[in-house]
Amino acid sequence: MVKICCIGAGYVGGPTMAVIALKCPKIEVVVVDIATPRITAWNSDHLPIYEPGLDEVVKECRGKNLFFSTDVEKHVSEADIVFVSVNTPTKTQGLGAGKAADLTYWESAARMIADVSKSDKIVVEKSTVPVKTAEAIERILTHNNKGINFTILSNPEFLAEGTAIKDLFNPDRVLIGGRETPHGQKAIESLRDVYAHWVPKDRIICTNLWSAELSKLAANAFLAQRISSVNAMSALCEATGADVSQVSHSIGTDSRIGPKFLSASVGFGGSCFQKDILNLVYICECNGLPEVANYWKQVVKVNDYQKSRFVNRVVSSMFNTVSTKKIAILGFAFKKDTGDTRETPAIDVCKGLLGDKAKLSIYDPQVTESQITKDLSMKKYDWDHPAHLQPPSPTSKKEVSFAFDAYEAVKDAHGVCILTEWDEFKNLDYQKVFDNMQKPAFIFDGRNVVDVKKLREIGFIVYSIGKPL
Ligand code: NAD
Ligand code: UGA
Repeated sequence: MVKICCIGAGYVGGPTMAVIALKCPKIEVVVVDIATPRITAWNSDHLPIYEPGLDEVVKECRGKNLFFSTDVEKHVSEADIVFVSVNTPTKTQGLGAGKAADLTYWESAARMIADVSKSDKIVVEKSTVPVKTAEAIERILTHNNKGINFTILSNPEFLAEGTAIKDLFNPDRVLIGGRETPHGQKAIESLRDVYAHWVPKDRIICTNLWSAELSKLAANAFLAQRISSVNAMSALCEATGADVSQVSHSIGTDSRIGPKFLSASVGFGGSCFQKDILNLVYICECNGLPEVANYWKQVVKVNDYQKSRFVNRVVSSMFNTVSTKKIAILGFAFKKDTGDTRETPAIDVCKGLLGDKAKLSIYDPQVTESQITKDLSMKKYDWDHPAHLQPPSPTSKKEVSFAFDAYEAVKDAHGVCILTEWDEFKNLDYQKVFDNMQKPAFIFDGRNVVDVKKLREIGFIVYSIGKPL
């Protein structure tokens, strides 16, 4: 029986390994983590992450061929294939602060693998890492010269949160990069055999190590670039009377452009787009390519611009002040169908409104009050000026409250900001919302989910991204 161990039981490690276990009943999969509460949650009825379809997959295999454990060293030493799916955040201090990937967690995982291994292993980079990381990892793995063969593969993950299980069941492609040596090619075959249990062979792409590592950064950069492009267009639409949804549809029907990922929004969020682009920017700078670096940096700058443009619109529409006005925030997660708030645009929007002394009433169906409180009280790290930390926002009980549903949040509010496209916000009883709000009643739709015409008929003043006022 092949044994797989995955280091890192997070948004990637957990769902990915659960699907491998489901599709490969003859492979034993153990997901390990140093965070005891996370592992306890994976072993409970309340999984640590919300992801549609995940509960069913975990229930089907947990205790059979899928296990979650904090005994990291034991399971790594017993495994044939070790996936490393630890976090690789942006460095906040020292060389490259604000852009470079912080590989501290990766390095400590690699050192531990080297120390505890007693047999040959395939070590798989699942985390998103800078191109050429495998070279450094190889050196760490072989530093104590125990005569053990470590073959390193790059197998970046392309799942999106909220659709992780769907994406893992039916991936557009699986990418495996390895050394062009007999050992490297043999390792690629072993990993390909795992995925071939359910992924058609023609969707398993094999490349050299550096192409696989760079393809992951490139894919995220291209995806984020589309959003910043359409968001830049949304500003021009508002200035000219064009409608960004019509523009997106019109350009998306060109088969060379395609219709996906052209929804204008308050800005992209999530733990990866900004982090991975800044990582790419840093790599370009280190390779003496400032023009290329500046090109990609602009994608993040436009995203920051879109978020502050939204805040400015709210404040200027409401007679240039939101001081002491109640604003309902509908949605805090960075997208629907997840409880993840990492880099969610809601953080910047809420902080912007609090900076103008608004009183916020926040509702999200999946994000807890403690998570929101934590997010709003953290100092904002300025990636463009890494030496500057913005002061923490004032988030006393008086300024921020939490509602158990959307109707409670909007009660007596002067304005409503929709910041996550949860389905339930499309189908609210907007007449009831209007009746319970202060007048004039404003709606600022950061996700273009509401029916603008219908809401204007009810009496709302509606602002949607990239739509005529
Ligand atoms: P995460 O923070 O949810 O999970 C990482 C886990 O690794 C944490 O639970 C942490 O405790 C654990 N960990 C860190 N160091 C460890 C060590 N030495 N030993 C054992 N456990 C350790 O992160 P994530 O969202 O799952 O992302 C992981 C990687 O995958 C990142 O590089 C990210 O860029 C990439 N990625 C993420 C997504 C996504 O949708 N979140 C998608 C594709 C790729
Ligand atoms: C993204 C990529 O889609 C995945 O392929 C990748 O594996 C992952 O990053 C990663 O490396 O972490 P994710 O961030 O989970 O996945 O979610 P997306 O669906 O890409 O959405 C990212 C952000 O862009 C969200 O805030 C979303 O609301 C926003 N978005 C997306 C738009 O504003 N407009 C769109 O048209 C699409």
